[in-house]
Amino acid sequence: MSQTIDVELRQVRKTFGSNIVVDEFDLQIQEGECISFLGPSGCGKTTTLNMIAGFLEPDGGEIRIKGKRMNGVPSNKRELGMVFQTYSLFPHMTVAENVAYGLKLRKVPKAEVKQRVAKALELVKLPQVADRYPKQLSGGQRQRIAIARALVIEPSLLLLDEPLSNLDAKLREELREEIKRLHMETGVTTIFVTHDQEEALYLSDRIVVLSNGKVEQIGTPLEIYNRPATEFVHTFIGKSNKLPAVVEVQDGETLQLRADAGFKLQATAKGQKLTAGSAAHAYIRPEKLRLAVPGTNPLGANSAQGRVRQLSFLGAFAECDVEIGSATVTVRIQTIGEHAGLKPGDPVALIWHPEDVFVFPGEER
Ligand SMILES: Nc1ncnc2c1ncn2[C@@H]1O[C@H](COP(=O)(O)OP(=O)(O)OP(=O)(O)O)[C@@H](O)[C@H]1O
Ligand SMILES: [Mg+2]
Repeated sequence: MSQTIDVELRQVRKTFGSNIVVDEFDLQIQEGECISFLGPSGCGKTTTLNMIAGFLEPDGGEIRIKGKRMNGVPSNKRELGMVFQTYSLFPHMTVAENVAYGLKLRKVPKAEVKQRVAKALELVKLPQVADRYPKQLSGGQRQRIAIARALVIEPSLLLLDEPLSNLDAKLREELREEIKRLHMETGVTTIFVTHDQEEALYLSDRIVVLSNGKVEQIGTPLEIYNRPATEFVHTFIGKSNKLPAVVEVQDGETLQLRADAGFKLQATAKGQKLTAGSAAHAYIRPEKLRLAVPGTNPLGANSAQGRVRQLSFLGAFAECDVEIGSATVTVRIQTIGEHAGLKPGDPVALIWHPEDVFVFPGEER
């Protein structure tokens, strides 16, 4: 990938009344990257996207596209393609007319419009619906047409604001594959807004995790998942077992903790310095816990004795809730092989690796 910066946000800030909804937002997007804005409802994703699109003016900082300062530049001068959460096709126009709309505005010659519309419909694999009206399409087809309409103008930047959120689970999955393919085929720099962590992990070169108008972390899906910068990032991405604990001792990278639930816990510090006696929140993901034969203690502080509370079969895997001390943790297991006969009440041992335990400072008590 070339190292040209396509979009840059510098200390971008937006307030509505006394409410700061975006603050100190810094980001550099490389040409051809697919970036996700990920965060809970109300964290400022759409507001930021609308500032990049030119529908909203920032109150502070600046936005640059292809090296040019965009503050004050109207939306139609930014060469953007946009797709929104709700279907935004013109109901009185056919699919072909919808897709052609942006080209007509740009006074592209008729013959070229025809050819580019056909190509855009090919790209989203819907050449056969050109003469239909939006109401004669399924929800997923409409969003594909919206994407074709955004791409046909060959935008320098594609902005997608939760384009899949009105679709059912199966369609969402299909369409996110489609978006990934389109991104690979067109190479267009893309910003994808979502509150669905799986979608962000699947699609993005890098993810910007937002909370309350602030950037929590910017990183590749692997960095965000394996090296979360904050407790918020760790808990927002994927499922994790929370164990309030007290730090007993830190020896270099090794942390020894005592979980409030009544067992010892070894973790790696991952660069942190924690004081002995301080409160902490330790986390382990369900897929990082292993069940072992009860009574075994192969890894010392990296294991605990527990009892199966409940099993939930989820198709590709199962979740086993295990009581250890006064806590209940969820373990992801396969219900075939050694765990086939597992049932509530069975004694089990839990094992984990210290590097799979994430420790964040807790509130003092
Ligand atoms: N025009 C407006 N006037 C006042 N407040 C606004 C306006 N637009 C957005 N807000 C507020 O700004 C905050 C951020 O809104 P935004 O739409 O950016 O959130 P979001 O991250 O896109 O959420 P969602 O996932 O629900 O779409 C919210 O608290 C919202 O209520
Ligand atoms: Mg939004």
